[in-house]
Amino acid sequence: MANVKSTQAGIAYLDLQAHVGITKHIGGRAATDRLLADCHVENAREVLCVGCGIGVSTAYIAKKFDCHVVGVDISDKMIEWARLRAKRERVESKIEFRTADIQDLPFQANRFDAVIVESVVSFVTDKARAIRECVRVTKPGGYVGLNESYLTQALPPELSEMVGRTLGGIEMPMLETWQALWDASGLQERVLQTYSIDARQEVSDRIRWIGVRWTLEAFARLFRLYLTRPEVRVSVREQYGSTSDVLGKLEYALFVGRKQV
Ligand SMILES: C[S@@+](CC[C@H](N)C(=O)[O-])C[C@H]1O[C@@H](n2cnc3c(N)ncnc32)[C@H](O)[C@@H]1O
Repeated sequence: MANVKSTQAGIAYLDLQAHVGITKHIGGRAATDRLLADCHVENAREVLCVGCGIGVSTAYIAKKFDCHVVGVDISDKMIEWARLRAKRERVESKIEFRTADIQDLPFQANRFDAVIVESVVSFVTDKARAIRECVRVTKPGGYVGLNESYLTQALPPELSEMVGRTLGGIEMPMLETWQALWDASGLQERVLQTYSIDARQEVSDRIRWIGVRWTLEAFARLFRLYLTRPEVRVSVREQYGSTSDVLGKLEYALFVGRKQV
């Protein structure tokens, strides 16, 4: 775990996910299906998944639609998991993976028919730049679709401090912040729909989608790290111990917009 970023006491949230091999976005497969339908992925020839994590949606899109998919993530480790997943799902010939930062995408302008971003911009410092990059690489007439969560009320100071620490200093936005960012995107036909969270369903949906084998393997890795790394024990207790407090104040939104022809 040489490249694991440590917070004051433990390990940053996304680094722990990368080492264990689990990522998620709120709303699960139902939210992805809505986003893909609203972005008309059924008509797309080339789709970009930004911040693809372990590649669950990437493989899903490649399997479900007749299109080429490009998956990018800032973490090499996530890209390794995503490649493994594509191989296991037998869709590797339809997907190309690259390590890249959403704030500086290594693609020419106007390339993709749809750009799908699920729970990524929340973790980025310059959110306006990240959205601008997604718009830039989208074809005129193509769609950008985001699934991002927001706080419905301010967190108590202690919880806010802990969340800030585990997210590497990034603050969780409120809905008004997202609305302003989306309005400034320059996209047309903009829609922003909000949804509440059913915490229990989140977990069972994700396990069903990721698959029992993958989930068990991930938990075995987490268990090994928990036993051998004191900083992982700190993070697991801190991050998972406060999950229900944070989830109770979170909702998510689907953002869809179309680039001017
Ligand atoms: C919460 S996970 C969501 C992953 C995936 N979209 C999913 O739904 O399972 C966030 C992902 O965003 C990636 N990420 C964070 N900052 C990024 C950046 N600046 N550029 C690209 N990816 C980034 C992380 O490495 C992680 O894989």
